[in-house]
Amino acid sequence: MNLPRWLEVFGLSEPPFSKDIADDDLWMPSSKKLLVDELVEAVQSHEHGLLVGEPGGGKTCALRALRCRLPEAGFRLTYCHNATLGRRDFYRQLCVALGLSPKATAAAVFHTISTHVEQLGREAVHPVLLLDEAHLLRQDVLDHLHVLANYQWDQQPLLSIILVGLPELWDSLSLRKNRSLWSRIHHRIAIPPPSLGDTNEYVDYRIRGAGAKTMPFTSDALTTLHEATGGQLRDIDRVATKALRAASRRKLAKVDAELLAGILEADQRAEARG
Ligand SMILES: Nc1ncnc2c1ncn2[C@@H]1O[C@H](COP(=O)(O)OP(=O)(O)O)[C@@H](O)[C@H]1O
Ligand SMILES: [Mg+2]
Repeated sequence: MNLPRWLEVFGLSEPPFSKDIADDDLWMPSSKKLLVDELVEAVQSHEHGLLVGEPGGGKTCALRALRCRLPEAGFRLTYCHNATLGRRDFYRQLCVALGLSPKATAAAVFHTISTHVEQLGREAVHPVLLLDEAHLLRQDVLDHLHVLANYQWDQQPLLSIILVGLPELWDSLSLRKNRSLWSRIHHRIAIPPPSLGDTNEYVDYRIRGAGAKTMPFTSDALTTLHEATGGQLRDIDRVATKALRAASRRKLAKVDAELLAGILEADQRAEARG
């Protein structure tokens, strides 16, 4: 197999910062494990949850980790990320995701969904609705979501809703007008700002995962990377990949702070040109 040169020179057998990371290979430091634990607990106790964090902070990956942690028998996960829909289309999409035929009116759709959810309840299968990019949910959907969230038998909700989105989702849910939904969300998690230690650990994890035996970044370069990206993983992936390529072109043994500063400047110029 012909490896690109930039991988070969750093002893990598594949691109280290690819977003196609397998579920089993996800990076799970104790901070991330704790938040996935809390999501697991929310779902196992048939409650609702909220997860917010900056873009590229690992929210969608946390949902993948949640899916891996739940036994397949007993839970039916439905993932929706098309959050910009109005109420009727939202419910229609939910029908499709649940494998039900979509109905014409919001009331018919709601009826179909609630019958389905009841049926799952009888089969002892707990449905879990994962709503990603939920900061984009329209107010008419939010207004109605508490009806779905409150759908219960014997005080036990028949469905767990996990809302995932940017930090502003927390702010809008805590507004007075959303209080009936907000009060039903018992598990509220905000991903804390990543530390320099997190960035170092993440880069090390992914570099090793791609087969390298030595670290191709100097510790100053990692500090610069952390400061420039705020530790957001998607930005780290992008900048670190550019830096490895550039280091290989310039025949450097490691990415150092100077090289990284140059990459960041070029990145900012490109962004300004937009
Ligand atoms: N737990 C993790 N393990 C490994 N890589 C991760 C993890 N979380 C995030 N990433 C990396 O960061 C990128 C952005 O993460 P993602 O979960 O999509 O962020 P968000 O949904 O918060 O915007 C992913 O494509 C992946 O490369
Ligand atoms: Mg995401």
